[in-house]
Amino acid sequence: MPTKELSSTLSSTLSSTLTTVLADTYALAVKTHGAHWNVVGAGFFELHERFGEQYEELFEAADEIAERLRALGAAAPADIRSLATAATLPAASDAHDGMALVTALLDDHRSLSRTAAAAVKVAQAAGDEATADLLIGRVHAHDKTAWMLAATAGGGASSRKGKGG
Ligand SMILES: [Fe+2]
Repeated sequence: MPTKELSSTLSSTLSSTLTTVLADTYALAVKTHGAHWNVVGAGFFELHERFGEQYEELFEAADEIAERLRALGAAAPADIRSLATAATLPAASDAHDGMALVTALLDDHRSLSRTAAAAVKVAQAAGDEATADLLIGRVHAHDKTAWMLAATAGGGASSRKGKGG
């Protein structure tokens, strides 16, 4: 088990970092599911479909992250309250217009990309390349979805705010 090779401090920092990524991934899955349900406007059919694909990808990712936590010997959050407590993404607004939802989810994917990228460093500092690899995959996934949402909103690909800091 990888935790045996890690110091307890590194191990507990990595577990709590991974729990944050899990909670935010779950929070974004729920928000995206809500967008799938609530979206209104001319782009309804397309956005309803795309949000559906996105929440499915996020739920699958949350499962993978939770199972990595278990492989590291940590407990995975087991109810909606503990997930909500650990999540850092803002609550969903009441705006159901398609572009408002696209913009809000875009901000969340960018934020989660930064959180996952920071978590990569924590995993690497702990010498846990497998967890780093999982998290790098999440950075790729969030950046790809952010690109698609930005393109849908008519924004440029170069406006990846806050990255690299
Ligand atoms: Fe549905």
